[in-house]
Amino acid sequence: MDNRPIGFFDSGLGGLTSIPHLMKNLPNERIIFFGDTARTPYGSKSPETIRQFTMQIGEFLVKQNVKMIVIACNTISATCLTELREKYPHIPVVGVISPTARVVANSCSEEDKVGIIATKVTVESKAYENKIREKNPNINTASKACPAFVPLIEEGIIDNEIMDLTIKYYLDDFIEKEKINTLVLGCTHYPLIGENLGKLYPDIKIINSSKEVVDAIKIELDKRDGFAEENDLENRFFASDLSENFVMMIKKILGKEEVSLNIHFKNLDI
Ligand code: DGL
Repeated sequence: MDNRPIGFFDSGLGGLTSIPHLMKNLPNERIIFFGDTARTPYGSKSPETIRQFTMQIGEFLVKQNVKMIVIACNTISATCLTELREKYPHIPVVGVISPTARVVANSCSEEDKVGIIATKVTVESKAYENKIREKNPNINTASKACPAFVPLIEEGIIDNEIMDLTIKYYLDDFIEKEKINTLVLGCTHYPLIGENLGKLYPDIKIINSSKEVVDAIKIELDKRDGFAEENDLENRFFASDLSENFVMMIKKILGKEEVSLNIHFKNLDI
């Protein structure tokens, strides 16, 4: 038993989309979330810069005495999961790509065409293709970087014609030409446009990296006898820029007023 919080982080607010899945499956767990809202998006930055930012966030979470670190970001999982694990060998570090690739490998067949949509960095890393192939070499994939999605989502431009047009701009041709029947949301921001995607492409099956990571968390906690007991501890949310939109999104995603009491500004440069 371990009642310490799980540390979650993302380049911005995207990683928050994992939290409802965690709460539903493991309701006793508490979290400390860090969103690097001042420096988002990471998805078009150099791997070197992403590594530098990630190490700062890792240090912050470790100082909060977390029992596990969850990289609730595909871009960071693709870039520096190994470095973070090497730096903190005593803390389990879980990324989102491997658990999602496992679901693709287990639930799709050679009849399917799996489209991976993600940031530029994630697509260029080929992390998804490599992991999926490792687990099931018969699956056919194609990838598409959609770099404008994250800035629009961070601005709250979601339930809106601008977002629908942007989705169509990136995906209409991709889906048609590649004959995609399954779409992997390879960015934890993208579940926030899940309704838009469902409306525009109703016949496509969606696999969501924000949800699939929860199984990996369970496995790691189980290995260490690390599940939390029922407790009164609170979740805490930190951001490097406490924008109105970040606070609004926390309330929207988590649906709780009480979280506003636990939202803090944290500048990692000081
Ligand atoms: N949520 C991050 C991901 O899963 C977004 C990356 C970004 O900041 O561009 O890749």
